[in-house]
Amino acid sequence: METSADLSTTGLRCSEQECGTAVPREYRGYLCPTCGNLLEAVVNPGPASAGQLKDLWRERRSSNRKLDTSGVWRFREFLPEASEDAVVTLSEGNVPLIPGQKTAAYAGVKNLWFKHLGWNPTGSFKDLGMTAAVTEARRQGAKTVACASTGNTAASMAAYAARGNLRARVYLPRGGTSMAKLAQALDFGAEIQYVDGNFDDALRALMNEQDPSIYFLNSINPFRIEGQKTAIFHLLDQMDWNAPDFIVVPGGNLGNSSAFGKAIRELANFGLLPKVPRMVIVQARGSNALVRTVRAGGHELEIVADPQTMATAIRIGEPKSWKKALKAIQFTDGLVIDVDDDEIIAAKAELGRDGIGSEPASATTLAGIRNLVAGGAIARDARIVAFLTGHALKDTDAILRSVGKQG
Ligand code: F0G
Repeated sequence: METSADLSTTGLRCSEQECGTAVPREYRGYLCPTCGNLLEAVVNPGPASAGQLKDLWRERRSSNRKLDTSGVWRFREFLPEASEDAVVTLSEGNVPLIPGQKTAAYAGVKNLWFKHLGWNPTGSFKDLGMTAAVTEARRQGAKTVACASTGNTAASMAAYAARGNLRARVYLPRGGTSMAKLAQALDFGAEIQYVDGNFDDALRALMNEQDPSIYFLNSINPFRIEGQKTAIFHLLDQMDWNAPDFIVVPGGNLGNSSAFGKAIRELANFGLLPKVPRMVIVQARGSNALVRTVRAGGHELEIVADPQTMATAIRIGEPKSWKKALKAIQFTDGLVIDVDDDEIIAAKAELGRDGIGSEPASATTLAGIRNLVAGGAIARDARIVAFLTGHALKDTDAILRSVGKQG
């Protein structure tokens, strides 16, 4: 069965329901022209039933067709339409679900799995979004794509831009990116622009570029969110659609938690998710804008002016997708917490000793689970999936610096 021909036209609309302004797919303003909030893609999964889609997605696992070999495009009924020839893919998204062993004991739980999105082509979860967004950039005739980044977005965008014959320009906070990520961006041929300051300053510098020929690929781009969304589809397929009790995700600019929230809402509305997993977003304590925002009532973003953490990937003080992430927390009856750098370093070492490894930002999840179990907010027999977002080799300095501390 093939359903992609049945899809109706993709569009964009304001992510704030009360506003709901609709704009065409090609709209390049990134923010709602009526209220200034972020936009989101509207997709139409077509006529297939929930049961038919589950079967179809499972069947495609054994297909060698271009779109089926991607763990993103396999779920294309829920993605913006794209013709097979035009899709820019590196067969991303096909990452395993690994049971925690020593890490489960460390967190004090019986049922812990890691979905390691760091085992993607460029070593981070960003690849899931870039296949969708670079495909869209090409569809819209862009010649240059650009992003601000703490490193992973830059590496991923550069790789997909290279595959799609686009120029890549990345804005990096000077001194705020690991060498491995910088090396990847250079390897894939990106033009590097250093910005004095942090990620938030780099993003501001990018957004001030008034060059209409540049297509922005930060996570304010709704097409990136669509690609990243499929990590939840892939996870549920791997779990035979028995949703876990908790999914746990690191929070930086909050694009990924927004994407996961959108996936959960869409799957629940479509009847593919009888039980909604609770989402836990874990931030680094020195970069905990969402934690502060929730504590203050959730109406205004509580910006962290000088964000700090050894987990450079999430050293972000003004997360752009905070409202979407809050919505995800509300829909899933979730939690937003923070962990300090010592807890991140300790959890990262545990992941290494469990044979899994990750970059520091990802280890926030294990540290967060441990704290929630100790405090009684997560039961010891709960079924928990932690998303690891970056490969251990993304930041070897962090390992070498912390080995001394761990003994
Ligand atoms: N984990 C890793 C390894 C990351 O690189 C990032 C973000 C996050 C978690 C947080 O994800 O921003 O969607 O909440 N890295 C961005 C970058 C900012 O530029 O590579 P988020």
